[in-house]
Amino acid sequence: MLMKQASAHLAPITGLQEEEILKLLEIPPQPELGDAAFPCFVLAKSRKKAPAAIAAEIASELKTGDLTAVAAGPYVNIQFNREKWSAELLEQVNHPSFGKLKIGKDARVLIDMSSPNIAKPFGIGHLRSTVIGAALYRLYSEAGYIPVSVNHLGDWGTQFGKQIAAYKRWGNDEALQAEPIRTSLELYVRFHDEAENDPALETEAREWFRKLEQGDEEARRLWTFFVEVSMKEFDRMYERLNVQFDHTLGESFYNDKMGAVVEELKSRGLLEESDGALVVRLEEENMPPCLIIKKDGTTIYPTRDLATAVYRHDVMKADKLLYVVGGEQKLHFKQVFAVLSRMGYEWAANCEHIPFGLMRFEGRKMSTRRGKVVFLQEVLDEAVARALQIIEEKNPHLDNAQDVAEAVGVGAIVFGDLRNNRLNDVDFSLESAVSFEGETGPYVQYTYARMNSVLAKVKDANKSSKNGHATISDDTEINDGASHTANVGDASWALLKLLADYPGYLEKAVVRNEPSVIAKYAIDVAQAFNRFYHAERIADAPAEIRPFRVTLTTCTAERIVRSLYLLGVQAPERM
Ligand code: ARG
Repeated sequence: MLMKQASAHLAPITGLQEEEILKLLEIPPQPELGDAAFPCFVLAKSRKKAPAAIAAEIASELKTGDLTAVAAGPYVNIQFNREKWSAELLEQVNHPSFGKLKIGKDARVLIDMSSPNIAKPFGIGHLRSTVIGAALYRLYSEAGYIPVSVNHLGDWGTQFGKQIAAYKRWGNDEALQAEPIRTSLELYVRFHDEAENDPALETEAREWFRKLEQGDEEARRLWTFFVEVSMKEFDRMYERLNVQFDHTLGESFYNDKMGAVVEELKSRGLLEESDGALVVRLEEENMPPCLIIKKDGTTIYPTRDLATAVYRHDVMKADKLLYVVGGEQKLHFKQVFAVLSRMGYEWAANCEHIPFGLMRFEGRKMSTRRGKVVFLQEVLDEAVARALQIIEEKNPHLDNAQDVAEAVGVGAIVFGDLRNNRLNDVDFSLESAVSFEGETGPYVQYTYARMNSVLAKVKDANKSSKNGHATISDDTEINDGASHTANVGDASWALLKLLADYPGYLEKAVVRNEPSVIAKYAIDVAQAFNRFYHAERIADAPAEIRPFRVTLTTCTAERIVRSLYLLGVQAPERM
């Protein structure tokens, strides 16, 4: 906001476009130097003068009641008139529509997210896809798009042949009902262990998958059973993470939609034989061929993704298709998008893979094959237990400690994931994620609880002053601080500027598909608030400045709640 203002003033003086100036403007290294700094190097050529001389010229020309400009070497440092701009900015950030963008113009963005595999554990990769996807969903909505989320369950493929074969040999219904994923995993691991010495197992598995594809009744029944028990367990997880889907459509949903795609590929002359399989060659794109039909006549993951994309575009009317899936599937998506484009679909350009890095827990990796896995359930429970411990130490009299611990523990995991640039690999340490200090979710939540206790104090003080001789009502005090802005302190000013910059952060997060922008913003706001809280009195501030500081506090609390909401993290009132 202030940067825009500075650009508008500088444009006529420098002869540069406002846009260009916006890009050039810097934030001075020390806040005392000002709110913005304009580097004059770009003008040296046209004005045939040294940048420092130009800075002096510009500073002397830049005379308005809005700001003061001083030359400092090659820079023009700009300090805004705090009294005027504090009122203006506070009014802006306090407006009900503040922070909503319209850049999406109601375009429909389909977000493929979570998408775990049936009968396998919900892995850390799926956790990342779920929390990143859910955050993108809310971010897009906030920016004026219409997001549509789809859980593309891995409910089809040869592994179901293995699952059924193993179940037929060693299965136990009771165990499977009680602990579906663990039991399925045990079957899966046992299958792979025993198949090494017993090749008949692989044949049985292939046979079962063939039966399944042909609609054999027993195979279908067992498959449905696996899907149902797995879903029950996944749903518990989604509930804890507070994630919903607009659609849950597994890969099997596309079984009857692949024929048309294969026909289309054939009629366009794109299918070629290779070792008995059918592929689309992608030499021109410098990629290995995309496998469409396997040697044994069955379809495969890419075939299903082609049918899925066509369905999402044609039937679900998606304008933009996002796939929040780990970086290890990069080639797969490049191939799928390339084939779509070969098929003549211009909208292939609107398909985007949103990859993310690997995550380890305290150095432990994920591997479903060998059964050495970290279960998300356990990670969440552990985080909640640790959160409860800290809460009990800090606030032994908190009533709903268990609920708060759930919000803090789960929030710590979600925030701990989202604060990293999504492409980075993350080595997750539970201890630091749950800590109330540092750049963590609990730190932000704790700071929010602090704002609430300050505001509660304000309300109490107002009540008791009303009992004596009524002055200002609590609502005026909380919502109308903009009218008294003499002597705005440095910490208030820094916090207010950060709040006013929120729309820019939101836009950046959406354009880059990067929830970490908002997570880092929430940390910055929490830190700026804590500096303000320690440097300036709020509830017991002098009467003239109190409404300003109180309103600043309510606006900060609102921004924190909104940022955490966008990330899928709860904000308990007290903790
Ligand atoms: N189920 C897959 C896996 O766990 C991810 C699916 C991603 N979505 C997609 N349309 N391919 O690897």
